[in-house]
Amino acid sequence: MSPKPVTAPSSVPTHVAIIMDGNGRWAQARGLPRTAGHKQGAEAVRRTLIGAAELGVKYLTLFGFSAENWRRPESEVSALMGLLRLYLRSEIAELHGKGARLRVIGDVTRFDPDILALIRQAEELTRHNTKINLTIALSYGGRQEITAAARMLAQEAAAGRLDPSHINEALFETCLTTAGMPDPDLLIRTSGEKRISNFLLWQSAYAELIFVDTLWPDFDRRHLEEAIVEYNRRERRFGVFAGAR
Ligand code: IPE
Ligand code: IPE
Ligand code: MG
Repeated sequence: MSPKPVTAPSSVPTHVAIIMDGNGRWAQARGLPRTAGHKQGAEAVRRTLIGAAELGVKYLTLFGFSAENWRRPESEVSALMGLLRLYLRSEIAELHGKGARLRVIGDVTRFDPDILALIRQAEELTRHNTKINLTIALSYGGRQEITAAARMLAQEAAAGRLDPSHINEALFETCLTTAGMPDPDLLIRTSGEKRISNFLLWQSAYAELIFVDTLWPDFDRRHLEEAIVEYNRRERRFGVFAGAR
């Protein structure tokens, strides 16, 4: 594949992805239940979406709940599901009003049917919006996504509809949940942890990684702007020696 163009100075990344981490620690530091941190985290989602849209970010992808997070205590999972239901009910009209298109990626079939219905309604309502693409990764795992893509292609090949020698990166990408979206330019993780935790493994191959100590419920537009400033200090090479361009 040909290398993508190098970022111009002071450019706003087209696609910002964020691992929203640290809700539990935010709450614990205040002697509150972890759920209080998740609640505040939903506020940070609202702020970040508005900030990103105003800055001109076209794709904002947020990691809200991982495939592995299902293994948390039942009480925390059900509290998170309650918040998700609340968020979907209360925020969609506003999201729509702001011109955001919502997509949810991940194994949503594991959600209660009413949550799944709310997700589908929101996706349908906002599907023609173009101001910003908000993708929320829920019940999402990068390995699971890649495995599902491999399974899809294998099924096509086994059915005689696909010649395995025609499988390339472009075709593989069409089987990912992010098909049609550009790769993230900037990947931010909050809370000081320096790992990917199974987020957008394929898509982040050349993303610039920024780890900030801020806990997600404290994250706001200022932190996003700081990350974009840092992003602009980076030299993106895409494997091509800088002097060779
Ligand atoms: C991120 O915050 C939100 C989810 C993973 C659902 P955490 O709940 O992981 O908070 P910490 O990392 O324990 O502080
Ligand atoms: C990653 O955070 C998932 C989300 C932020 C939704 P975790 O808190 O689950 O990740 P680990 O366990 O610290 O790697
Ligand atoms: Mg965490």
